[in-house]
Amino acid sequence: MPPLVGVARTGALPTGTSSCGPIPAHVAIIMDGNGRWAASRGLPRAAGHKAGAEAVTRCLRAARANGVDYLTLYAFSSENWRREPSEVADLTGLLKFYLRHKVSELHQEQVKIRFVGEVGRFGADLCAEMARAEALTAGNTGLTLLLALSYGGRSDIVQAAQALARAAQRGELDPGLIDETMVSRHLLTAGVPDPDVIVRTSGEHRLSNFLLWQSAYAELVFLETLWPDFDGDCFARVLDIYGRRERRFGARPA
Ligand code: IPE
Ligand code: IPE
Ligand code: MG
Repeated sequence: MPPLVGVARTGALPTGTSSCGPIPAHVAIIMDGNGRWAASRGLPRAAGHKAGAEAVTRCLRAARANGVDYLTLYAFSSENWRREPSEVADLTGLLKFYLRHKVSELHQEQVKIRFVGEVGRFGADLCAEMARAEALTAGNTGLTLLLALSYGGRSDIVQAAQALARAAQRGELDPGLIDETMVSRHLLTAGVPDPDVIVRTSGEHRLSNFLLWQSAYAELVFLETLWPDFDGDCFARVLDIYGRRERRFGARPA
């Protein structure tokens, strides 16, 4: 049974950190609103994505400063392949740039990087760079950063079901013994605790196929802020909102 509330933070706080309440171990964010941010400035959507990538750096810094263990960022959904090829190319280009120029910095900061999604769809070169980044940072002991790329919650569940069915077919698994823990262990997020809080920016109120299984008891926080404007204060606001929630997991109210 998970604790009803998280562990209270103690000790001195660096600037930009929240001052009260439990700290979520796992924060997951649907980074939405890049296009609208650009449109409101008369800029092309690509400029919004570039500014959004800079917001990722601020968000990561805030997550580390606040002692968050896992940060999952929804960067590209399985449905985002439906966008114009030029926009997909802009997003892929940004991913390539960050893989080439930011991974060593993250490595120095002890960040452990993990990619979740059908990353093979980005092509062999990018896929190899992602595998290199994962291998380089695998032994790090700081924050674990999960980047959800070409990720879909339904296909995550489908691939887990297929893996379990194959094991049963080989005679290695009694289907009657399949339980929730076993399903969780076959998801792309295996080994990572479920998110305590899922944040969506830009005023939209939906999950858009993000972490459907894992979100069962996540607290949902919706911010009006467009993702490129996200900063340490926004992160502190999320922690503050989360800290005021009472998590019951179906138990009797306190
Ligand atoms: C989020 O911003 C980035 C991705 C989905 C890749 P959007 O591109 O969805 O921005 P809006 O929703 O059009 O403003
Ligand atoms: C969800 O945003 C995916 C990411 C933020 C990566 P979308 O902008 O693609 O979602 P919808 O289409 O508004 O639901
Ligand atoms: Mg959007």
